[in-house]
Amino acid sequence: MHTIVLATHKGGSGKSTLAVGLALAAMEAGHVVRLIETCQLGTLSHWQGRRADAEKLVEPVYAAGDIAPRLAAIEDEGVTLAIVDTAAAGAATTSAIRLADLCLIPARPSIADIEATALTLRELRAANAPFAFVLNQTPIRGQRISTAAGTLGGSALDIPDVVAQPFIAMRNDHQDALRAGLAVSEYAPESKAAEEIRGLWNWIEERLGLAVVAGREEAASDLPIVSISGIQAPAEAARFI
Ligand SMILES: Nc1ncnc2c1ncn2[C@@H]1O[C@H](COP(=O)(O)OP(=O)(O)O)[C@@H](O)[C@H]1O
Ligand SMILES: [Mg+2]
Repeated sequence: MHTIVLATHKGGSGKSTLAVGLALAAMEAGHVVRLIETCQLGTLSHWQGRRADAEKLVEPVYAAGDIAPRLAAIEDEGVTLAIVDTAAAGAATTSAIRLADLCLIPARPSIADIEATALTLRELRAANAPFAFVLNQTPIRGQRISTAAGTLGGSALDIPDVVAQPFIAMRNDHQDALRAGLAVSEYAPESKAAEEIRGLWNWIEERLGLAVVAGREEAASDLPIVSISGIQAPAEAARFI
């Protein structure tokens, strides 16, 4: 099982929205997914409550000490991907970060959001957690995006794969889907929003070195390289670093 943790001290960056979107994109790609909610605001539990689909995807786990045993238990149940939605800070967030195969740090392309990532980065580095930024709620087009990607990459490490691709634009479909108890790929499967989330999931699969073929995990190196239908290839992001 792989564990992805959405983490950033900045509220409203899109941790919960991306957790939901990525969960369904990963399910479409063949994973058995569970959403672990450590944020007591309960965004994911409320979303689950609005879902007509009876399958229970969300598990609230609010006590820091309960997270590792819960992850072990769902792995035994056959779950192949756990996506953990965290609160801005706290013991549960720290525990989740320590258990992550990949931490995703969502950030809007604004100076306040980018500055706020410094605190999160310090925590991730202390835990030696692999991480990548996800630029979220970006304007549909504009220089601001490239500048933000460059700032994030530069403040992190001199590696080209530190900013996930594609960037996720600000689109109403994300909010409408959440309200309907759906993920964006269920709510508007043919939309740009759904396409971007699927692209982001492809990027994560490659970053984790895994791909699912007919429910079977294989090393990505054994498979043809999937081209990401994103805005920029990771190597291009390096231009801004
Ligand atoms: N890409 C996006 N496009 C439009 N709205 C978004 C997008 N990402 C997040 N939102 C909205 O922004 C708000 C905050 O997002 P949320 O996922 O709750 O952030 P967090 O969990 O980090 O506090 C929510 O209303 C959510 O629907
Ligand atoms: Mg949230």
